[in-house]
Amino acid sequence: MRIVRTIPELRALIRTLREGGQRVGFVPTMGFLHEGHAALIRHSTSRCDATVVSIFVNPTQFGPGEDLAQYPRDLERDQNLCLQLGVKVLFLPEVSEVYPTGYTTFVDPGPMAERLCGAFRPGHFRGAATVVAKLFNMVQPDLAFFGQKDFQQSVIIRRMVRDLNLAVDVVVAPTVREADGLALSSRNTYLAPEARTRALALSRGLFAAEAAFKDGERRAELLLQTARAQLGEVDELQYLELVDTQTLDPLAGELTRTGALCVAARVGRTRLIDNVILSPTDEGVSFLHLDPL
Ligand code: PAF
Repeated sequence: MRIVRTIPELRALIRTLREGGQRVGFVPTMGFLHEGHAALIRHSTSRCDATVVSIFVNPTQFGPGEDLAQYPRDLERDQNLCLQLGVKVLFLPEVSEVYPTGYTTFVDPGPMAERLCGAFRPGHFRGAATVVAKLFNMVQPDLAFFGQKDFQQSVIIRRMVRDLNLAVDVVVAPTVREADGLALSSRNTYLAPEARTRALALSRGLFAAEAAFKDGERRAELLLQTARAQLGEVDELQYLELVDTQTLDPLAGELTRTGALCVAARVGRTRLIDNVILSPTDEGVSFLHLDPL
């Protein structure tokens, strides 16, 4: 595994890989890797000849008062994991490498960035879309892998790729969960044991709605109510919404097309998100479903 810190080094390495006819897969991360990242890396190594992983805690996607300074880091452990998983290139740029002095250009993802998490984290998706566009230009991957847990991010990135004609296929892989249902997240490390137990309300709510859906319930309001009934233990329910998987517009009435049931809540001081896909037809979610490894 090669560790590179500068864009010219990265480009030279990727050029060599490409000249050797290698198909390049890319997993962008902010580090503190967990089994969810490992799954993305395995998806990449099983489909591509060379996998590039970036670790970059992107300052432009954190708002004032958010956890940029405290964001968990463990570079040594991350490096070992990448090595074990067969990553070919680990890209570890400094902030000044990605945003040199005088940096002013941003990607504006439009109205989708204002909805759901965007309403609570102004500017977050502008920062995330910008850094992903930049990383795509640096790495120029054939395939890039994102986790379904950040569902809104994955929809915004897919739209950006389409709208800006970026030459990369975005693959969204299913959320990896703990045995008790908690969606894996680097931020789970913030949860004290008591909060960790209460955090299970998110997956419990989503699974209850999913079970009702599987039993034939199609009324959006009833599905939302079923999930909401489990969410009493969180400290602040920021949103619980059933939305269209392409546009993120709220779905009401009878569910006739695929929806994403998305939740965000604070438990203690930790903000958590989760979602499940509810598909009456199994259409429109093919991008989420990869063959098992
Ligand atoms: O999902 C994340 O970890 C980040 O938003 C990403 C895609 C690495 C961009 O900083």
